[in-house]
Amino acid sequence: QLKDNTVIVVLGASGDLAKKKTYPALFGLYRMGFLPRDVKIVGYARTKMDDAEYHKRITSYLKVADDDADGKAKIEEFKKFTFYVSGGYEDGPSFENLNKFLEEIESKYQSKERNRLFYLALPPSVFIPVAQHIREQAYSKDGINRIIVEKPFGKDLESCRVLLSSLKQHWTEDETFRIDHYLGKEMVKNILVLRFANVALNAAWDKNSISNVQITFKEPFGTEGRGGYFDEFGIIRDILQNHLLQVLSIITMERPVSFSAEDIRDEKVKVLRAIPPIERSDTLLGQYVAANGKPGYLDDDTVPHNSVCPTYAATTLWIHNPRWEGVPFILKAGKALNEAKVEVRIQFKDVTQGIFKDISRNELVLRIQPSEAVYLKLNTKTPGLNTRAIPTEMDLTYKRRFTDIKIPEAYEALILDALRGDHSNFVRDDELDVAWKIFTPILHWIDGKNGPAPKPVPYPYGSRGPKELESFIAKYGYKRTVADYTWPTMNVS
Ligand code: BG6
Repeated sequence: QLKDNTVIVVLGASGDLAKKKTYPALFGLYRMGFLPRDVKIVGYARTKMDDAEYHKRITSYLKVADDDADGKAKIEEFKKFTFYVSGGYEDGPSFENLNKFLEEIESKYQSKERNRLFYLALPPSVFIPVAQHIREQAYSKDGINRIIVEKPFGKDLESCRVLLSSLKQHWTEDETFRIDHYLGKEMVKNILVLRFANVALNAAWDKNSISNVQITFKEPFGTEGRGGYFDEFGIIRDILQNHLLQVLSIITMERPVSFSAEDIRDEKVKVLRAIPPIERSDTLLGQYVAANGKPGYLDDDTVPHNSVCPTYAATTLWIHNPRWEGVPFILKAGKALNEAKVEVRIQFKDVTQGIFKDISRNELVLRIQPSEAVYLKLNTKTPGLNTRAIPTEMDLTYKRRFTDIKIPEAYEALILDALRGDHSNFVRDDELDVAWKIFTPILHWIDGKNGPAPKPVPYPYGSRGPKELESFIAKYGYKRTVADYTWPTMNVS
């Protein structure tokens, strides 16, 4: 149930995140009829600009086809209820001014109720002062207030705790929505259904049947232009510690008592607590170098020339509980690779030998992006007059099976959840704490805190990653399917 009389305030409205993700999501929700009735959107940032300039900026990323008259009309309508206020992030009077503006808009509402959703699309350095000022100067006294924040939530366990406790001085857990946008992706949301609504899958979901699991993130571009930010964080903080670990927790958690936010998050925290900190010997680090006319990481002007920041990491996690003891969970992520792909690959154990020799293992692949799919690699008899077994697949490629469906963007799904007050797909404070416990020791080692920092191995821009990867995953028992197998719907898009 969406609350009427809601104003959405986007702080950091002139920044990249707001332009590329927040506003397109708000517009998408508006087009689909999922914003509260009579909603108003107010952008806030330091840049001084008038409404026309602001509208130009926020609509530059709204995708509407040339012949889509309805879409174009909707953009014009959208502009009519989006406004802009400029002001500082660290001074009270600016926020008083924002509050005045909000009150003015709200005075046109029919009833006295005033709900405000604050979306912080801001750099971490101003998180705290902004959260504090909103609470002190721009908090609605006659309705619900909510705040959406996004990573980075600190750089390690200690800094995360400091950040969380500072935020908690001003906002309750119930008012706070911490985004990990992977939790808004359709296939990630499907994992609980696949697991717990299918006896056949659920029965094989443990160490007795599964040999190893890989969760892979690949991006075909480097840090271009974002090197300054990236170098301070590295690929582990950027992708593994949040997005991939979130996916891992949903793949491995026990069945929640209900679909309520706290029941789900209780189970996620429980499984994460069974994971010890990552070992150095379970980690492979890489950094891309120039190749095929593309620059290397160190060629980026915003990156220190001797940086040892990893742009690629593969690392194996272990879960000490009865379901998963001994099963390696390999998280892999890299920039500047050969393709854009995010998937979970669950490889089952070998079938008992005897009647079969050299046959491929079953694999269940959840393709998160691009082009959502679930496929199960199975062995089948070669049709015809022989009995050889060959690998094939049962394939649920969304674009083929669900032809009329528009899959929502992650940010659309999450902003709608926040408007509804549903925390299920947001990160709870104790989840963050335990996630940092798992990664902090390895990050301190990489940061050179306890001795010389490890040097990442080089890999060429546009390649599959470090050449050491093959033996790294083989070490954990991963076996490749026979060489001539390819998934036939790989390129359906
Ligand atoms: C962000 C990272 O959290 O996720 C980026 O900071 C990365 O470096 C992005 O590119 C990937 O998100 P998506 O939705 O494109 O897979």
